[in-house]
Amino acid sequence: MERTFIAIKPDGVQRGLVSEIIRRFETKGFTLVGLKFLIASRELAEQHYGVHKERPFFGSLVDFITSGPVVAMVWEGEGVIASARKLIGATNPLTSEPGTIRGDLGVNIGRNLIHGSDAPETAEYEMGLWFKADELVSWTPTAMPWIHE
Ligand code: RTP
Ligand code: MG
Repeated sequence: MERTFIAIKPDGVQRGLVSEIIRRFETKGFTLVGLKFLIASRELAEQHYGVHKERPFFGSLVDFITSGPVVAMVWEGEGVIASARKLIGATNPLTSEPGTIRGDLGVNIGRNLIHGSDAPETAEYEMGLWFKADELVSWTPTAMPWIHE
């Protein structure tokens, strides 16, 4: 089973969208294996978005991500990395498809509510950055035979 790192950004928390966003992953059939509520340090945010270090928006992105609490999560399931990106929608909420989290709930690229790892390598890196191994819980939901054949 694949795992991916998902974070509800400070705008999602401030707008009271935590339950709405978690609901979409739960009802899809993915399994929650890690969850924490924290204000990210600058160091953590810079490491998380390190790939964007040279981009003009890097400073404001780090300012924003550290500006309030985030909900950091790990979700598990078949094909969850790519599927989560589809549930989340395109980076700019103005062009994200309706039905996606960003397409339904956001309008601005700098306030796009949620982060999701974009590949297996980044998922591994980000899970290791935000969670210790013993903070992830391996368990099998009783509904699993009704989600997977
Ligand atoms: P994320 O990493 O947050 O899940 O978003 P993403 O993969 O869809 O997009 P990415 O290219 O990784 O960009 C990371 C975040 O930087 C902000 N951004 N601002 N002003 C801009 O042109 C711009 N481009 C990107 C967004 O908040 C984006 O989520
Ligand atoms: Mg990204």
